[in-house]
Amino acid sequence: MEFIWCRRGDEAMEDVLKLRRQVLCDEIGFSDSYRLDDDDKDALHLLCRQDGQAVCTARIVRTAEDTWLFGRLCAPARQRGKGRGAAAVRRAEEKCRRLGGKKVTVKAKYDKEGFYSHMGFSSVGEVYLQEGIPHIDMEKCL
Ligand SMILES: CC(C)(COP(=O)(O)OP(=O)(O)OC[C@H]1O[C@@H](n2cnc3c(N)ncnc32)[C@H](O)[C@@H]1OP(=O)(O)O)[C@@H](O)C(=O)NCCC(=O)NCCS
Repeated sequence: MEFIWCRRGDEAMEDVLKLRRQVLCDEIGFSDSYRLDDDDKDALHLLCRQDGQAVCTARIVRTAEDTWLFGRLCAPARQRGKGRGAAAVRRAEEKCRRLGGKKVTVKAKYDKEGFYSHMGFSSVGEVYLQEGIPHIDMEKCL
């Protein structure tokens, strides 16, 4: 797999936003303002490609000196269960660590709590709704 880090305005962002539309909006039902929000201006975006095809994306946003928020993780349905999501999380953690990060947080969709636990994250607090979808905050020390 090829891992490309990009910022808003870069060419690779087209694939990132296309993937978000397909998975986060069309499949899950998030709004367009969730697909592209204010944090995207400052975020570092990860695009994973396999044989030139976009297979996963995610972003990281710095929220404190040593803390990064991971999110917008998505892979097209036919690409799931092949380790794409896990590889994106690991790449992002590596990037955060290199940028001085000591902690990664995630506003996880509640049905993905198991996935993030598997990746070493712990749940913090109660389940809450974001755009009508249950979420839970999770964190991991790097
Ligand atoms: C989240 C997502 C990217 C996961 O990616 P994926 O490529 O299918 O996951 P992986 O194949 O990397 O799975 C990694 C491991 O987590 C496990 N796992 C995946 N989903 C899980 C879940 N809901 N509960 C528990 N374990 C889970 C897998 O079994 C796998 O275990 P293994 O390492 O022992 O084989 C994918 O499900 C997706 O795009 N979903 C729709 C968008 C979404 O919900 N995004 C999350 C927003 S918070």
